[in-house]
Amino acid sequence: MSGFAGKLREEFAARGAGVVISTPLRIVRALGRTRQVWFYTQPVPTSGKTSKIEELTAADWPRLMAEESFPWRHDTGASGRLHEGARLFAWREAAQLVSFGWVTHGPSLLIGELGGRVEFDQPVRWIWDCVTPAAHRGRGFYPQLLAGLVALAGDTRPVIYCTRENSSSQRGIEKAGFVRSFTITEHFLKATHRPGPMPLQYHYHRASQPA
Ligand SMILES: CC(C)(COP(=O)(O)OP(=O)(O)OC[C@H]1O[C@@H](n2cnc3c(N)ncnc32)[C@H](O)[C@@H]1OP(=O)(O)O)[C@@H](O)C(=O)NCCC(=O)NCCS
Repeated sequence: MSGFAGKLREEFAARGAGVVISTPLRIVRALGRTRQVWFYTQPVPTSGKTSKIEELTAADWPRLMAEESFPWRHDTGASGRLHEGARLFAWREAAQLVSFGWVTHGPSLLIGELGGRVEFDQPVRWIWDCVTPAAHRGRGFYPQLLAGLVALAGDTRPVIYCTRENSSSQRGIEKAGFVRSFTITEHFLKATHRPGPMPLQYHYHRASQPA
C-alpha cells in the first residue's frame, strides 16, 4: 500500500487511536492553508542608474561558484537557468557583488511559490529569485539593483513578485518604485485574484491546467 492510505496505516500502527483524532484536523488545516503572491509593476518607460549593474554569464560561473557569498553556490541546477534563457544580474559596490537577481523576458513565467503560471498578452521583463547575501542586507542594495534592472528593461514592462510573508522583499520592491498590480491566492481547490492600484490584464493557469 502506498501514498496517503499507506502513511495512515503506518501512523495507526505507531500511534493507535490518536490518528483518528489528528487526521481530520490535519485535513482541515490543509484545506485552510493558502499561498499568496503579490505582483508588482512600474509605469514604463523609466530611467535609473545602471552603471553598477553587471550581467553574469556562463563564463563567470566557475569564478562565482568559488565565492563564499554567491547565493547559488550549492545549487547545481542554477546555471541551467542561463541555458533556458534567464539572465543573471548583480549590483556591484566597492568591487563586491552585493545583490543578485534573475531576469526572464517573455509573456509567461511559472511562479514556483504558487505552483502555477502567470501569462500576459505581451512579453514582460520578469524579475525573480533576487538575493542579497546576508552580510550585505539592510543597506539598500536590493532596491538599487531593482531600479537598475527596470532601467535596463527599456520599453518592456517590468514585473516582480514575492510572497505575502516576505516583508523584507516587499519593502525593497516598494523602495525601488514598484506598485502592487495584483495578488493571487492559491487555496486548496481554487485560486482567487485581487487587483492592486496598477492592475494589469493577465491569465493564471493553475498547476492542474494546461499552460
Ligand atoms: C529581500 C532581500 C533581497 C532584501 O535585500 P536588501 O539588500 O537587504 O534590501 P534593503 O536593504 O532595501 O532592505 C529591505 C528590508 O529588509 C529588511 N532588513 C534590513 N536589514 C536586514 C537584515 N540584516 N536581514 C534581513 N532583513 C533585513 C528591512 O525590513 C528592510 O526594509 P527597511 O530598510 O525599510 O527597514 C534580502 O533580505 C534577501 O536576499 N532575502 C532572502 C531572499 C529573498 O527573500 N529574496 C526575495 C525574493 S522575492
